[in-house]
Amino acid sequence: MPGILEKNYLSHAEQTNPAPHGEGQVAWECPANIAIIKYWGKKLLQLPLNPSLSFTLSKSKTRLSLAYAVDPGYSFDLDFRFDGKAFPEFRQRIHAYLQRVLDFFPFLKHAHLAISTSNSFPHSAGVASSASSFGALALALCSIEQKIHGTENIDTGFFRKASFMARLGSGSACRSVYGGAVLWGCTQRCAGSSDETAIPVSTPIHPEFNNFRNTILVVNSKAKPVSSSAGHELMDIHPYAEARIIQANTNLGLILDILNAGDLIGFIDILEHEALSLHALMMSSNPGYILLHPNTIVIIDTIRSYRRDTGLPVGFTLDAGPNVHVLYPAAIEGSIRLFIEEHLKKYCENGIVIHDQVGEGPEWFEV
Ligand code: DP6
Repeated sequence: MPGILEKNYLSHAEQTNPAPHGEGQVAWECPANIAIIKYWGKKLLQLPLNPSLSFTLSKSKTRLSLAYAVDPGYSFDLDFRFDGKAFPEFRQRIHAYLQRVLDFFPFLKHAHLAISTSNSFPHSAGVASSASSFGALALALCSIEQKIHGTENIDTGFFRKASFMARLGSGSACRSVYGGAVLWGCTQRCAGSSDETAIPVSTPIHPEFNNFRNTILVVNSKAKPVSSSAGHELMDIHPYAEARIIQANTNLGLILDILNAGDLIGFIDILEHEALSLHALMMSSNPGYILLHPNTIVIIDTIRSYRRDTGLPVGFTLDAGPNVHVLYPAAIEGSIRLFIEEHLKKYCENGIVIHDQVGEGPEWFEV
């Protein structure tokens, strides 16, 4: 059952129109995001232990179209396709999610849904797609809710609910419904911040960070031995949990000032500190585990030597996996691409490198 704050996201339209019906199709493209300050550890219904901040990407995204027929006489039914094919494993996760969010979208009880989804990045690239997938699905569900109630209004409230709904699918997905720099989790530093939904960072961001580049180096695309969900859970009993929450809050405050001031060196400092702290938390969990690959370490060392030798502001971060995200300003793209080509690509699985950058956030499209 929803908690007190969650009541904000219940379907108010359904109180006046308890038996909506309609049919049609909606479609959204939602990008992945890369966390600068990491979300690690959660409580209750996917609420974060600490605030996090991410950049939403531009090219790495999920495209999702959802055909729906809602009628009080129907019972729930779901058809799910990924890249045009049935994927029982994904369908099961989406099915469980849709059952979980019935209080927020009561129309689902009487909906026939056909979801068709694909990613812009290869499935085998090992790039996490749950944020972009649940972001796209949440946006599509919010669109259907509006359509069947005859209120099409893609405003702040729409995105706030989409972020809330995306969070219930995968925590980091709540940040993907906004473009640019996005904050999730309560912090005194930002008015309007919340554990329940993400919000766009309202502090002005210095132009040094405009179109910031993010190249993903795919070191290993195999499924992780320990999932993010299992990793979050280990934070419940982690000996350093309290210190981590303090650290994340401190780093969040610092990064907001750094983004505002355009301090690239300070940015890289926090970026790398967060990435290494995340993996240190995994290693010091009980049981401890390692998601890094030997090539991840070689890449990190190579980036740090290159930065020392050239003075160029390039840094790295890591997700919960062995792949490396290389972050740098647009102004030095030529040099960094060459560096990646000559010195880093050889450590990537099948030489897979995905050049991306910070983007404007999700877009709906006609189907
Ligand atoms: C390391 O959002 O994938 O990428 O909420 O269980 O779906 P669930 O976890 P998920 O965790 C992401 C963790 C991270 C850091 C981050 O994106 O902030």
